[in-house]
Amino acid sequence: MRIFKNKTDLTTYVDVLKSEKKTLGFVPTMGALHQGHASLILEGLKENDFVAVSIFVNPTQFDNQEDLVKYPRTLDCDVELLKTISDEKIIVYAPTVSDIYGSNVTSTSFSYDGLEHEMEGKFRDGHFDGVGTIVKRLFEIVRPNKAYFGEKDFQQLMIIKKLVEKYEIPVTVVGCKIHRTEDGLAMSSRNTRLKLDYREAAPFIYETLKSVKQKFSKKSAYKVTDWVTKQFAKHELLELEYFIIAEVKTLKTVKRKSNKKTYRAFIAVYADDIRLIDNIALN
Ligand code: PAF
Repeated sequence: MRIFKNKTDLTTYVDVLKSEKKTLGFVPTMGALHQGHASLILEGLKENDFVAVSIFVNPTQFDNQEDLVKYPRTLDCDVELLKTISDEKIIVYAPTVSDIYGSNVTSTSFSYDGLEHEMEGKFRDGHFDGVGTIVKRLFEIVRPNKAYFGEKDFQQLMIIKKLVEKYEIPVTVVGCKIHRTEDGLAMSSRNTRLKLDYREAAPFIYETLKSVKQKFSKKSAYKVTDWVTKQFAKHELLELEYFIIAEVKTLKTVKRKSNKKTYRAFIAVYADDIRLIDNIALN
């Protein structure tokens, strides 16, 4: 497996692939790879000759320093997992902070037509500027034909689509279904940090979302939101940060349901000091 630690070597290799008319898929990650990432990579391998996987914990998208410091970094295990998927068709780019940012570790400010002011944008200051900065930079370095993002970070997926449209970046952004463990918890690199009792409690999040889907067919968004708030108020371990039913195009909270629009429910929950997010399509 080819592992590149700097952009010059990677760029040279991508030039060779391009000259041979090979197509390149791309899965950007922050490492601590799990089956959710594997499913994105497999999707990429179906549709491209090669798949580049970046492994980079991007400092500019963290508003919480402790979260950045504690974010799992498991490069050797990540490479082992990737080898089980494909030793030949996967290219790894695992840069240092200075390879990406030089000595200026800051993010550019982006406007995503208001998408950035909802949900994660409200609760994580500067997060989507950091995401936009790194993804744009990675797209410029890797130059993929297609890039794959999970729907677990649905708002991020929408924002990347907007970024690509606004900057006319020649890459097709593909959204992939949420990958869940058997008990329903959405796969996330942060799950490995959950203490046992919190890990056992965490499937409650998806259980609640499934009930939300049922209730939303009969009840108003307001009533369903109120019900969710009460469920979490009673819960001993999980603390609700937000629950929102939003229209998928604008991500704005729904005030009055319309059967012409498509809705999704979004949730962010603290399990101890670990923040988990999830979402579900409602109609
Ligand atoms: O979803 C993630 O893991 C990150 O936000 C991404 C897209 C790799 C950018 O750092």
